Amino acid sequence: MGERIPIASDHAGFEMKEKIKAKLIAKGYDVQDLGTNSPASTDYPDYAHPLAQEIESGEAKRGVLLCGTGLGMAYAANRHHHVRAAVSWLPEIAELARKHNDANVLVLPARFVSEEDAEAILDKFLNTPFEGGRHQPRVDKIEIEGTK
Ligand code: RB5
Repeated sequence: MGERIPIASDHAGFEMKEKIKAKLIAKGYDVQDLGTNSPASTDYPDYAHPLAQEIESGEAKRGVLLCGTGLGMAYAANRHHHVRAAVSWLPEIAELARKHNDANVLVLPARFVSEEDAEAILDKFLNTPFEGGRHQPRVDKIEIEGTK
């Protein structure tokens, strides 16, 4: 079994989550689906927080979130220590989020990306290493001193 990757969405991201989940499984990842499990209306923080907790605790290294714009999921996930959730609407954004920001959660704006684009964004997120170097101290400064 490959790396365990948690994934979650609200209703707006549900359909795309199912597609992304299938792609991750096909790529050999051990996907942990934290919901939602239908297109019925839900509240995105109820899904963002449990996924972010997986990253904050170190139980998972990377995760994927989806909602309509990506914004609500990112706001909630980024309240957690050590979580760097990047809303990515282009492969280039995901690539830079990895290279420069060491993003550990990919947030897909499901209502604004095609399935084809979402897979290209996912691939950049999964396969681009963090550059480190001058970016390391910047990433370190994201955590607010005294709150770790
Ligand atoms: C749901 O309608 C929508 O508000 C939600 O998916 C997300 O875009 C919020 O940020």
